[in-house]
Amino acid sequence: ANIKALIDTLEAQGCLSREEYIELLSNYSKEDAEYLKEKARKIANKYYDNKIYTRGLIEFTNYCKNDCYYCGIRRSNRNVVRYRLTKEDILSCCEQGYDLGFRTFVLQGGEDGHFTDDMLVDIITAIKKGYPDCALTLSLGERSYESYKRFREAGADRYLLRHETANEEHFGKLHPANQTLQNRKECLRNLKSLGFQVGCGFMVGSPYQTMENLAEDLLFVKELSPSMIGIGPFLPHHETPFAKEKAGSYELTLVLLSILRLIAPNALIPATTALGTINPLGRENGILSGANVVMPNLSPVSVRKQYELYDNKICTGDEAAECKFCLQNRMNRIGYEIVAERGDMKPL
Ligand code: 5AD
Ligand code: FES
Repeated sequence: ANIKALIDTLEAQGCLSREEYIELLSNYSKEDAEYLKEKARKIANKYYDNKIYTRGLIEFTNYCKNDCYYCGIRRSNRNVVRYRLTKEDILSCCEQGYDLGFRTFVLQGGEDGHFTDDMLVDIITAIKKGYPDCALTLSLGERSYESYKRFREAGADRYLLRHETANEEHFGKLHPANQTLQNRKECLRNLKSLGFQVGCGFMVGSPYQTMENLAEDLLFVKELSPSMIGIGPFLPHHETPFAKEKAGSYELTLVLLSILRLIAPNALIPATTALGTINPLGRENGILSGANVVMPNLSPVSVRKQYELYDNKICTGDEAAECKFCLQNRMNRIGYEIVAERGDMKPL
């Protein structure tokens, strides 16, 4: 199999067929991966130079009504101390973040009904009023079209909602029956039609995932054409049904980051916390493989341990207040710099 030729085709056309993706993912050599990585890094550099965009992540609630089999804050986990940040807590995270140079804030949380649309609209409005030069990203899971519409009208700019897997049957093995891929996709369509910059994404190496499934994820990304694409390795959490499952592959995650950069040359692609958890240099290598965003934690240090989606999550200890500087140093060491900008997607 000539994998390099497939990589060239992917670069030239921005996509491959399902069969070609499977071929690529199943048969690439170390040398092929290196070839792909260089191409991906060059494309990222073409659009974003050596500039890394940063997002201040505020994990504002770990209550969740869902019961995803992989996730540490699933409803059935009785051993998490649940918390919610107040509007004042959230605004104080933004204030600290702004002083640190963040110009995008990400409000991320479990699917928590305590936060009604009215409350969220109030929080969104306050953030956008206090920080009109900042972008606001939401990541609060599935809500109705009407809710999303209100969030958008209140000023939210972006929305992250990973599709998790683009295969119906596989989706069913990761979630209880009340959650469906169909609804997830509808939410993504609704968000797009409301004018949000939308992010989708998936875990690499989640239980029961096949190369076919990953090929389907790549086809789905192409079809959705999102502004943002978030991926990271699956990592087990000890209080979930997947406690004994093995983690996803670090190397395959890097290869997929590079493939995504070839599929979506100007997309905003983070080197995720999960990638930094599975390998101490994961985020650096993510950037070198084509990612261009990092999302350090801005949540109060006192609650960070409670937002453990998977075991051994980094940035939850005493050192955690330092994430911004830590990442700044890490990026500088590989020749990149973090910039204090909103970090919108560049045009193709
Ligand atoms: N391992 C890796 N990623 C996870 N996520 C949730 N649980 C895990 C886990 N155990 C990811 C999901 C979700 C995002 C917020 O975190 O993809 O969309
Ligand atoms: Fe959080 Fe390094 S990024 S400690």
